[in-house]
Amino acid sequence: MSTNTSQWVEDFEGQDVPELIISSGQGGWVKIEGRDLAYEAVSGHSCLNLGHGHPELVDAAQTAMSGLSYCSPEHLSTASMTLADRLSSLLGGNYMVKYALSGGSANEVALGIARRRWSALGRPEKKICLSLDRSYHGNLGQAQFVTGFEAFRVEGRPDSPDFMHITSARNAETGDTFSLDELRQRLEADIAAIGAERIACLFVEPVNFAGGVIIPPRGYLKLLRELCDRYEITLIVDEVITGFGRSGTWFAFQHEDIRPDMVTMGKGITAGYFPLAAVAVDRTIYNDLRQHQVPLKMVITMASHPVGCSIALKAIEIVERDGLCDQVAANENRIRAGFEAIAQSPVLRDIRGFGHMWGLEFCDFNGRTAADIAADVARRCEHNGCIVAAADGIIRVNPPLNISTEECDMMIQAMVRSVSEIADELAIGS
Ligand SMILES: Cc1ncc(COP(=O)(O)O)c(C=O)c1O
Repeated sequence: MSTNTSQWVEDFEGQDVPELIISSGQGGWVKIEGRDLAYEAVSGHSCLNLGHGHPELVDAAQTAMSGLSYCSPEHLSTASMTLADRLSSLLGGNYMVKYALSGGSANEVALGIARRRWSALGRPEKKICLSLDRSYHGNLGQAQFVTGFEAFRVEGRPDSPDFMHITSARNAETGDTFSLDELRQRLEADIAAIGAERIACLFVEPVNFAGGVIIPPRGYLKLLRELCDRYEITLIVDEVITGFGRSGTWFAFQHEDIRPDMVTMGKGITAGYFPLAAVAVDRTIYNDLRQHQVPLKMVITMASHPVGCSIALKAIEIVERDGLCDQVAANENRIRAGFEAIAQSPVLRDIRGFGHMWGLEFCDFNGRTAADIAADVARRCEHNGCIVAAADGIIRVNPPLNISTEECDMMIQAMVRSVSEIADELAIGS
């Protein structure tokens, strides 16, 4: 890293970040210092649902900031109460909302609520937290223990018997997706081995994006709901990436028509304009805690910030008014059809995704590793005007919800061109 800066810059794999300094942004486009404009094909870090500088969001932020610049978590603000009601109704109603500051802290709050609730019900032995072996739920505090993906494991972190990682939808040996029947058998076996009487909760991402864009078979969330009901396990759906329209519905669990016990959210809740996160908790859980007089005692100074809540309300209004959930669902076909051009490329193992969440998984080819090829394709995409994210041999694509059809075609073309270029070069060099 040659850039002269006092800022500690390291990516999640512990590498120095490449010299990509972004000086400004407008819509889905950013200006990279010393280069041309580039399109945010991963929405920054899966946050920027409505692009940069959206005038209505900027206006909402300004109005909120000049009206009520902060509100103590010991008080209520109009914005935080209105947002709580709005979130509950988007989720199907009868949820209580507890605010947090980041996706990871929302997951920590959810975990604390699940354990306290079983304790309140006289079952303190139910405290094990289950999550899936390729999951990502944050990497600080307790959230780092919930995260199951080895690549994100914090070095030196001790194992904790209270956190266990069980089979995800991806077969770790073959890289294929398990069938629903196989998953049922494996999950039943995992739960039996641990003992349902010791399990408090199960965390699941509807699409495991950071862990490799793992898309479970249809019916997976229904299966988890059924198992959690049968074994009295609190089902916590982590919608930090998948929420707020990215899957083509408000929340990805809504594709399966289930009701989670808790839903955690972050990132796109404010379209990335303000740090805000939340946990929606089924009212029966809230009532259990209240009835047994078990307080949460969880206060986060900056959570429920009225400016963040006002921006979130405006972002939700825009997504609804502009029909962006439907637009995402329509873009799904456009993106799938566009990627057909490289579906048979010898450097690609798989292309998968839905809504605005896509993964291109590479394979080792002609002496180059999948990870190396993916990183190379990401660099080429950047030079072709499109920022994507590569890790673990997989490129993630996750554009803003309000991408135009021209931008969508440009993004697909940048990727098709980059993959084709490297495939041709490697084939010629062999
Ligand atoms: C599914 C999921 N949960 C939680 C988190 C953690 O969010 P944060 O980095 O805001 O703590 C992430 C971050 O990428 C995520 O993808």
